[in-house]
Amino acid sequence: MSLFRLDASIRTEGSVSRAIADIVESSWRDENPDAPVTRRSIGLEPVPATAWAASVTADRAHPENQTPEQRDAVALATTLTDELLDAEALLIAVPLYNFGVSQHFKAWVDLVITDPRMAASAGQPLRGRPAVLVIVRGGAYGPGTPREGWDHAVGWSRRILEDVWGLDLRVVESEFALVGVNPALDQFKELAAEMRREAERLAVEHGRHLAGALTH
Ligand SMILES: Cc1cc2nc3c(=O)[nH]c(=O)nc-3n(C[C@H](O)[C@H](O)[C@H](O)COP(=O)(O)O)c2cc1C
Repeated sequence: MSLFRLDASIRTEGSVSRAIADIVESSWRDENPDAPVTRRSIGLEPVPATAWAASVTADRAHPENQTPEQRDAVALATTLTDELLDAEALLIAVPLYNFGVSQHFKAWVDLVITDPRMAASAGQPLRGRPAVLVIVRGGAYGPGTPREGWDHAVGWSRRILEDVWGLDLRVVESEFALVGVNPALDQFKELAAEMRREAERLAVEHGRHLAGALTH
């Protein structure tokens, strides 16, 4: 069973989203010792911000009418979509940036959706495939906290992955990643450690979901 893994963090050193995704991948790997993994690190090698408009406006019926920029964008959309369609399971790790969806993740999703195979009229070629979304936040946004409702990334990401693409999605949300980094959050050390342990536990469980070892 092949895995596609997407990382949207802009860093490698100290990246919490990568660390949690590593746990998911390793749990998946336990069940799939020899399976291939395709990786995209869109925080470090972003999809160009101009590619989406170029691909949307490209004349796919008449490629000879495409500008060089449109040809490149269509080719990239094709490659990104091939990577998804070739995978039997998907792992996507995205940090919360500025209370919203990482621009790199949005640019990647938008470009993939320009591929005719991913259009709404094409049905859902990824329907039912197991997927895990890891979302990491520096702060905490639970019920009753001052910033409850400020995370505008999870809702949109779920809509796309679960409802638009039809993936069989599990989500690991890890909060308070900035505790230990930002001294103003020092009072939350114990709570942050507890939240991290719970996220890591879920990551193991969801890795087994990716592998098809869990049926519920
Ligand atoms: C530019 C920038 C903006 C961020 N904005 C938010 C934010 O709005 N809310 C939040 O909870 N954390 C925010 N964070 C913190 C990250 O979500 C947190 O550091 C997370 O661990 C980043 O993922 P990574 O560890 O995989 O790199 C921000 C971090 C950066 C670098």
